[in-house]
Amino acid sequence: MDTALLEMNAKKIVSPGRGILAADESTGTMSNRLEGVGIESSAEARRAYRANLFATPNCKSAISGVILFDETMRQTMDDGTPIPEYLASVDIMPGIKVDTGAKQLANFTGEKITEGLDGLRERCSEYFAMGARFAKWRAVIAIGDGLPSNACISTNAHALARYAAICQEQGLVPIIEPEVLMDGSHDAARCYEVTAQILSETFAACEKQGVHIPGALLKPNMIIAGKGCDQQISREDVARMTLDCLKENVPSELPGIVFLSGGQSDEDATAHLNIMNEMDPNPPWQLSYSYGRALQAAALKVWASGTPEESQEAFSHRAKMNSLARSGDWSITLE
Ligand code: 13P
Repeated sequence: MDTALLEMNAKKIVSPGRGILAADESTGTMSNRLEGVGIESSAEARRAYRANLFATPNCKSAISGVILFDETMRQTMDDGTPIPEYLASVDIMPGIKVDTGAKQLANFTGEKITEGLDGLRERCSEYFAMGARFAKWRAVIAIGDGLPSNACISTNAHALARYAAICQEQGLVPIIEPEVLMDGSHDAARCYEVTAQILSETFAACEKQGVHIPGALLKPNMIIAGKGCDQQISREDVARMTLDCLKENVPSELPGIVFLSGGQSDEDATAHLNIMNEMDPNPPWQLSYSYGRALQAAALKVWASGTPEESQEAFSHRAKMNSLARSGDWSITLE
């Protein structure tokens, strides 16, 4: 394992003022998003939309890395430059989603286990050769009546650690993403409890399997009440509870935490990150973003109705807002 390379790249991804653009929606998800704004989905439609985002002027000031889906990894910019090559040329690290999706967990109705370990070593090796320097694997944990089961937590924690170990062996920084979903009517305390459990089991599995923590990143949810809960908590409470939960369960040797947005509004995702960085200017790890929807929703809407430049401006604005949130310098007036 090249620990020096992994540590260097992990640190670079969370360098000050920068974060990740998650543009690794699977073909099905991206097609739904495009069709949602009235655009027929095709490989070319997906390429054109994403290539335009990546070509945003001065993108690198707020974006250190982009997570790609396999299809995009093999596509080109408008001028024919391979996308991973183009990103590296503008100082943006190409990353790759390597899981093959969350599938039904046998014996546990309504729960999921993320697949993709078979052949992962070979795929990581190919992606590294194509220019990828980090990877992502998303586990999905649902909260509900009697959910999650211990089986769901332990099987996903084990798979996340196996994924991380294989990535590191192949030179890719693993982004470990155990996502506790916002769906449901649970309160924030329940989200805290479940998030604490999946985080502690995931890091225990990583330790058992020899994952090099200074060469990895964590992509967690924030501590938030379920969408259907009538006791929503303040932005300050989200920030405080999230920081507490992470401090209790995440090793301090981890270089960075890159949150997912998970269905929060664009402004909530920015505000929550901003408050955390304001509350604790020296947390054990860098606190950054790896947003999908919260970085792209506005740009996608404008892509359907405006010019390519206007879509880039919408993306650039959200990227800038989140960049400021890295140091607690965002404020509502800038919106
Ligand atoms: P969202 O920010 O839209 O949740 O996407 C992040 C991501 O990569 C989920 O796996």
